[in-house]
Amino acid sequence: MFDFYNISSRALTLFPAETGHRFALKALANGLGPRGNANKPKGLNQTLWQRTFLNPLAISAGFDKNGTAISGVLKLGVGFIEVGGVTPRPQKGNPKPRLFRLEKDEAAINRLGFNNLGADQLLSNIRQHNLIYTNSSPIGVNLAANSDSTDPSNDFEKLVDKFASQVDFLTVDISCPNSKNGLVFLSPKPLQDLLDKLIEIRDRKDLKSPPALLVKLSPDIEYRELDILVEVIVNAGIDGITISNTTIKRPKDLTSPNQNEVGGLSGKPLFLMSTEMLRYVFKITGGNIPLVGVGGVSSGADAYEKICAGASLVQVYTALVYKGPKLIFQIKNDLAKLLEANGFSSIKDAIGSKN
Ligand SMILES: Cc1cc2nc3c(=O)[nH]c(=O)nc-3n(C[C@H](O)[C@H](O)[C@H](O)COP(=O)(O)O)c2cc1C
Repeated sequence: MFDFYNISSRALTLFPAETGHRFALKALANGLGPRGNANKPKGLNQTLWQRTFLNPLAISAGFDKNGTAISGVLKLGVGFIEVGGVTPRPQKGNPKPRLFRLEKDEAAINRLGFNNLGADQLLSNIRQHNLIYTNSSPIGVNLAANSDSTDPSNDFEKLVDKFASQVDFLTVDISCPNSKNGLVFLSPKPLQDLLDKLIEIRDRKDLKSPPALLVKLSPDIEYRELDILVEVIVNAGIDGITISNTTIKRPKDLTSPNQNEVGGLSGKPLFLMSTEMLRYVFKITGGNIPLVGVGGVSSGADAYEKICAGASLVQVYTALVYKGPKLIFQIKNDLAKLLEANGFSSIKDAIGSKN
């Protein structure tokens, strides 16, 4: 009998990392994933950006770059979805191998460099999903500039223009360590100019239900710079901040042979770093802007910690490689139990409660 759990878990660990990922995504796209969407533990729902989130959990950007498995991923029981990163034109990304498992550390290093089929293909896949599932959970797109682009700002502008009417949120990824154009906006003036333009493009469309605009930050930003960048983001009128992307740092206690590969480190070793940054940003923003907590989440307790540190929503990626797709179901159940055990009747009350 075909068992998705076993086959996908074996695929994720036996094959080279990128092949395993492709296999798992194909299985999900073909409806072979476990069904966790009927499981709706109490207290996890909330309204954000005028949208209903049945639970705060999603798989983070980079998992379904081309939106080929949107309904399969939603059936796992996530509360929302973020596809991409997408660039305006298709691009191949960096030469392979470019994705490495650090098994002993429950981590990964990637330097994919935004391999994707481009914005037209993703848009077509999202439209197709929206036609069939008229009452879908919120969908977001992670946006990136082409690595050979001479005007990365213009790339982001084109993407906002293209996707604004089709999705619930758009995440501006200015924190990818693997792309030449990934980090050019990590200083105040270029960031402010970019965000002003993107907000203007979205607002000019005068949509009935405009998408929220989010910015995704790197955990490698020094806190002095972070203060200034967050001020720019908040003053621009951005709707949310995602914390965080992968890190180029290598914590000293890594033990896996692949630890010196170049790229962004994700998974367990990122948890502390990204959660402390999340906690800090919640503090300096006074909890006035919704935060998405991502980095090293591998259990309900981790998700709970992100929420108490200030996250309204939580994303997971690398832990799925080690624990398989049933992790989504487990995190949701354990999170609901932890909220109840700590006296919270709703997730809203727990957000930032340990800050
Ligand atoms: C293979 C891979 C590809 C990724 N691609 C993207 C991407 O396209 N855009 C983005 O914003 N983040 C990307 N990320 C970062 C993740 O979305 C997430 O921020 C990071 O992996 C930390 O979460 P985790 O520790 O749960 O994996 C990628 C991560 C991995 C491992």
